[in-house]
Amino acid sequence: MFFITTAIDYTNGAPHIGHAYEKVLTDVVARYRRLCGEEVYFLTGVDQHGQKVQQTAEKEGIHPATFAKKKTKLFSNLWKKLGLQYDGWAETTDDLHKACVQAILTDLKDRGELYKKAYKGFYSVRQEQFLTDRDRNEAGEFGAEWGEVVEIEEENWYFRLSDHAAWLTEFAANNPDFVIPGFRRNELLGALDRSGEMDLCISRPKERLRWGIEIPFDTDYVTYVWFDALINYISFAGYRAKDGAALPDFTKLWPQPGSTTGRPVHVIGKDILVPAHGIYWPCMLHAMGFSDEQMPTILVHGWWNIRGEKMSKSLGNVVDPDELADKFGVDALRYYLVRDITTGKDSDFDLDRLVMLYNQELANELGNLCNRALNMTARFSGGVVKTGGEITSEELDLQASLATVTADYRAAMNAFDIAEALKAINRHVTHCNAYTERNKPWELGKDPANRSRVETVLAHLAESVAHCAVLLSPVLPEPAERLAAQLKLDQLLSLKLADLKWGVIPDGHETGKPKPVFPKIIIEEIV
Ligand code: ME8
Ligand code: MG
Repeated sequence: MFFITTAIDYTNGAPHIGHAYEKVLTDVVARYRRLCGEEVYFLTGVDQHGQKVQQTAEKEGIHPATFAKKKTKLFSNLWKKLGLQYDGWAETTDDLHKACVQAILTDLKDRGELYKKAYKGFYSVRQEQFLTDRDRNEAGEFGAEWGEVVEIEEENWYFRLSDHAAWLTEFAANNPDFVIPGFRRNELLGALDRSGEMDLCISRPKERLRWGIEIPFDTDYVTYVWFDALINYISFAGYRAKDGAALPDFTKLWPQPGSTTGRPVHVIGKDILVPAHGIYWPCMLHAMGFSDEQMPTILVHGWWNIRGEKMSKSLGNVVDPDELADKFGVDALRYYLVRDITTGKDSDFDLDRLVMLYNQELANELGNLCNRALNMTARFSGGVVKTGGEITSEELDLQASLATVTADYRAAMNAFDIAEALKAINRHVTHCNAYTERNKPWELGKDPANRSRVETVLAHLAESVAHCAVLLSPVLPEPAERLAAQLKLDQLLSLKLADLKWGVIPDGHETGKPKPVFPKIIIEEIV
């Protein structure tokens, strides 16, 4: 089983393209693994508790539960629109999740992992955390990124994070697949090196924050939002679930001693690696008794920026994926979100490039290939694919191109590098279009003496379109179906990648009529 999750998005606002990117990236990886024949469980959801949600709800004058519910709809509707195929949906206000968080808290307390103490210190309201001197800038102050900082003294519950720091440092150093890509793992190793980790405050007094999961053994407190949110990765996977709960079987999703299930993959953005996912989470799991083999892999992606600047409400440059999907189509948006960024690195979100890449690579190149292949098959080959003709070095080259490209595609996808995988597909499409230009089937077709040669050329084009449809299907599932339908290959997308070999279109197969799969985006000048 391949278990993959995304970060759960805060429901204190509407989804933006950063959220959409992470979900599409994860959907692409999940669909690719299904294409490889693996059993997949894809979990995503929303983070509904915490101070930010409470504050924004208060501003709107509504109960945080009503507010969170309303915002949650924006996310789930968008994911439906973008065609995400997820198996589990995590909402942290769900009673099943609450019960799991509370069971874990009680268990950790019984294991001596939690204690209560009074602490006086500086607290960032925006980040919902106590600050230390490490958080001061060069001028010795708490910078603007912390928002309002206040000094408070209060009693709280603490998790003995520091007891697990030595273990984590060794684990992170010895397990290259703990954090990918490698440069993000180095960031974590650097952070672990610099800090003596301090214990983690995991409660908030109800006077200050009501909107959270109650601490079961001290009901004047709720659970710190990160402690609650991280647990979604196991609570919705069935960890400590009661018999009969509508949750998956945890032992199938999460590696168990002696099982062959690989590490779960958590897909997150770079801002929440240190400390949340890289430090708190593995230490929490370790404290619960998870072994090294049961630690997840963290896949860290970069950020979409706007003209080199961070996307932010205050700058007013937040891009709304819902609007983009309406304006340019879901296909163009899904394609762009994984095509114009290297997994791990940042990129600039650029609408001109979105339109250009879609029009160039999909409408012009692949669309044209499909259109020509089917049109000319109808015109010169009676709508039938004929594979029996003589093969020249041109065809051998084309077949070799497809074999190389498929291998490159697989290597890139296995490394979560979607942009490289798409570039590989495009290399074969370009090869096919140049092959068509050189062999000019439209001219050869005029003379019946060339019939067999024309059929061979067209068969190579149709076969290529079929392969490209399969390879593209994790990124563009619907266009892939439209391509398969035009080729009249209803079983094409049930093929597993290992079975995708030359000859998926049998001799004598009748193809359908071409219809544009990627209608060109026309931008009207708005004056
Ligand atoms: O951090 N580009 O929620 P969130 C790419 N609730 N990704 C971006 C981005 C951008 N411009 N902006 C944000 C939270 N993200 C917590 C997570 S997980 C147990 C709890 C990513 O709504 C960000 O890195 O602020 C994170 O992975 C995800 O969107 C949700 O961010
Ligand atoms: Mg954030």
